[in-house]
Amino acid sequence: MHLFPCLLTLSLQLLALQAGTAIGLEARTPHVLRRAYTKHTSRSVQDTRDALKTTHQERAAPEVGDPSSSQSTTICDIVDQGGATSSTLDVGPIIEQVFKSCVKRSSGAVLRVPAGDWPIASHVILNPCEDFTFQMEGNLHLTVANVGGGPIFDFRYSNNFRVTGGGTFFGNGRAFRDKYALKDRPRLMLFEGTNYEVDHIRLDDAPMYHLTARGSHFKVHDIVISSKPPYVGTTDGIDLVCEEQCSVYSANVTSGDECLSIKKAHGVEVQDLECHNGGAVSIGSAGPDGTFEVEDVRVKGVSMHNSQAGVYIKAYPRSRGYIRGCLFQDFTIDDVAHPIEINQAWCGHGECSLSEPGGLDISDITFDGFKGSGDDTTRPPVILRCHSGGCHDINFKNIDLAKKGGRSPKPQMQGACGAGLAALPAC
Ligand SMILES: *[C@@H]1O[C@H](CO)[C@@H](O)[C@H](O)[C@H]1NC(C)=O
Repeated sequence: MHLFPCLLTLSLQLLALQAGTAIGLEARTPHVLRRAYTKHTSRSVQDTRDALKTTHQERAAPEVGDPSSSQSTTICDIVDQGGATSSTLDVGPIIEQVFKSCVKRSSGAVLRVPAGDWPIASHVILNPCEDFTFQMEGNLHLTVANVGGGPIFDFRYSNNFRVTGGGTFFGNGRAFRDKYALKDRPRLMLFEGTNYEVDHIRLDDAPMYHLTARGSHFKVHDIVISSKPPYVGTTDGIDLVCEEQCSVYSANVTSGDECLSIKKAHGVEVQDLECHNGGAVSIGSAGPDGTFEVEDVRVKGVSMHNSQAGVYIKAYPRSRGYIRGCLFQDFTIDDVAHPIEINQAWCGHGECSLSEPGGLDISDITFDGFKGSGDDTTRPPVILRCHSGGCHDINFKNIDLAKKGGRSPKPQMQGACGAGLAALPAC
């Protein structure tokens, strides 16, 4: 029963993704991003369900008389179904119980966390499941307690689902890091599956990673991630492991570490991203002995403010595999320490020397349309540091990067060839 609609959904979504590149993903101004976010927060569940149905109809258009459109949606509300009240100290077990007793029993059900402020003090396993919506209208506040590492919301082993609703998940990361060992911090949300969508939610100050999305055919969009100093590592905004066709668009990330980190990619589209304070749009690191599998990545329309890096491809000397076919386009940067860097020995864990020969092949990477300023150091705005022959067909167009304080250090090039910069030898 499930198999056929799933296959249909998949192929139609592929079409939708392709169409999305042409229509839906034109440059949006930050102003529009803000409006879209605010507008959604005031939407009712019904509006959201209608929007969702439209999406389903679009995807399933040829299937006339789709039974799901004539059935009423089951709303599994944590107040009505689980008895949560304003004095509940931990909604975690209630959410999990409503998930089991209501959501899993009715295809297409909506797990609703209604408006209000809900404390959460435990890990919540929302899997495995097919066809459901997690509708977070209220705000969740992670209690600073020794809950241990791992995701608070675990949405793995599931397909055809959506997480939305306009609410904010406050992670209280700063208090966590002050109180507990850094290695034992929870992350906020982990997704893994096929054909899912995460949108119109806000994640604030995760103790560790904010949002990790793995799998294929997923979309993460209209997301706000916020956090305040002091910043520490491993507090990435969005981490991606994409097996096939994934997209991220309209996101505003303020984090202590990477803004968007791509660990694995077979077709990733990123559009309209605003990054503050943390790290880069990065590819890597894949770990000291890791193997990269990254291809067909397009990142367009990014503004970076006060960050460690703009685009950073980072690998260890012993990394293997490939990174190929990547386009980074229309970046505006402001006070960024490493605006463009490809480094095959980036010095994580002190492993900084290039070895010969390297096992990682980086090729066909284009940087097109970078403007703004780096930081006020003498570090060059473009650094390519590769094993001999490790980086080829690296292309630059429309690069207008200055340094603060009027310095103009020369680009640093090692082991790379390509076009578009005077210091870069042709291949
Ligand atoms: C993105 O977040 C930053 C930091 O909170 C904020 O200053 C900026 O206005 C936000 N951008 C939009 C478009 O809302």
